[in-house]
Amino acid sequence: MAYENILTETRGSVALITLNRPKALNALSSPLMAELGDALLAADANAEIGCIVVTGSEKAFAAGADIKEMQSKGFADAYVEDFITSGWETILRVRKPVIAAVAGYALGGGCELAMMCDFIIAADSAKFGQPEINLGVIPGAGGSQRLTRFVGKSKAMDMVLTGRNMDAQEAERSGLVSRIVPAADLLDEAMKVAGRIADLSLPSVMMAKEAVNRSYETTLSEGVRFERRLFHSLFATEDQKEGMAAFVEKRQPVFKNR
Ligand code: CAA
Repeated sequence: MAYENILTETRGSVALITLNRPKALNALSSPLMAELGDALLAADANAEIGCIVVTGSEKAFAAGADIKEMQSKGFADAYVEDFITSGWETILRVRKPVIAAVAGYALGGGCELAMMCDFIIAADSAKFGQPEINLGVIPGAGGSQRLTRFVGKSKAMDMVLTGRNMDAQEAERSGLVSRIVPAADLLDEAMKVAGRIADLSLPSVMMAKEAVNRSYETTLSEGVRFERRLFHSLFATEDQKEGMAAFVEKRQPVFKNR
């Protein structure tokens, strides 16, 4: 698939996907989301890749779903095509880690897309918000649910009902982002973190992601049980033997992803 709305490159074992509709502040049109989904699944299927970074521009990670595209839709169009779900949730099928590197605006669908990644590294310039209420609608790609899980009911209500933005500091304080870095260093830092993850044993990395994600979908006791089963299964890998031998022998492990 030739891409017109995103850029893709591979740096070592990391796939970098850059949203690239600068004139529309990376508004997430259907063609862009189809391309993003395609690139994510390609990276997930590529045995050379261990981690994926999704980023935007200095000014905007993404300013939301494309308002010009959706403005004339009627209920039947939106319902029948399952608007916003179809295509958008491809990212949730990706089994390798996906890091969102966010600078500038991450609004509406942009904030929702970032929240669908595994974690968010924010530039100090980042601004997060769910401003859909200003357009006479509400978040449509999981914002009311995921933001509430990240930042709690009070702050999520505040943001979804008033449409106000959160700056990077508030986002970090609230648990929405994992760390803040100076804007000029954002991509380098995100690639460094992704490279570190990509150097680890892929089966354990993928199971770690699966285990953490499970905590959102099940009870504590079932989640712990699920974690324990995955933990036990990793003792069947060569990488577990290598990782522990390397620790005991005071050397760096060499993982083979098996
Ligand atoms: N959709 C389509 N186009 C958008 C867009 C969007 N979400 N956001 C920005 N653009 C376009 C603007 O229309 C403008 O295009 P033109 O030059 O052709 O007019 C261009 O990007 C630059 O935008 P601005 O001139 O507005 O830039 P600014 O710096 O003055 O303001 C901004 C930046 C505050 C982010 C402002 O653009 C803005 O408020 N954007 C919309 C944010 C929003 O409401 N997002 C939610 C969308 S709905 C949604 O996402 C639903 C969902 O849950 C999935």
